Amino acid sequence: MNRNIAVLASGRGSNLEAIIKNIENGTCIANLVLVISDNPDARALQIAREHNIKAMYLDPGPKKTWLLPEYEENYVRVLKEHDVYLICLAGFMRIIKQPLLSAFPNRILNIHPSLLPAFPGLDAQRKALEYGVKFSGCTVHFVDETVDGGPIITQAVVPVLDDDTPETLAERILKEEHRIYTEAINLVLSGKYHITGRRVIRTEL
Ligand code: GAR
Repeated sequence: MNRNIAVLASGRGSNLEAIIKNIENGTCIANLVLVISDNPDARALQIAREHNIKAMYLDPGPKKTWLLPEYEENYVRVLKEHDVYLICLAGFMRIIKQPLLSAFPNRILNIHPSLLPAFPGLDAQRKALEYGVKFSGCTVHFVDETVDGGPIITQAVVPVLDDDTPETLAERILKEEHRIYTEAINLVLSGKYHITGRRVIRTEL
């Protein structure tokens, strides 16, 4: 079974770092073949290179929040060239469209710092605090044509404390992100699930 994954990241890369650590310690069954960034200065690229993982900047084109089809086509070409089975978005701050979605149907994952469907989009931790929820968390989901809206693979809950700031809440959520992304990757690579409607059902524990 092909366990090749690519991570797409725009910035700091702490989720990437956690995935790499979990691959190195045997917790994550993936084979990380490629890290791609739309930002040439992303720390994620540096982290990958420090671990001898191929890392490249790919031009995202002129749009700020998405890729024009010809730019996305280039992402598809590079991912296919590396025989990537599963794409993991880890702080990749662009909306995925065609042709990527049809080239990798139900084979693109995203992690988001809220309990979706609450607080999609940017600044999820600040939105959770401002709304006044008592619990928030993180979600790993399949990517579809909606923003942060595809079928949910797993979630983790964290409490919102009275003295939280967006930063302290983000930090608490991030710890859980680092744990559940590996769990979701392992599940998808093991193939032990099926998708019924919006529900991702485990077929074996
Ligand atoms: C993470 O908190 C991730 O959930 C979030 O960006 C951060 C990236 O951190 N993603 C989104 O908000 C996507 N909508 P990292 O670069 O340290 O992994």
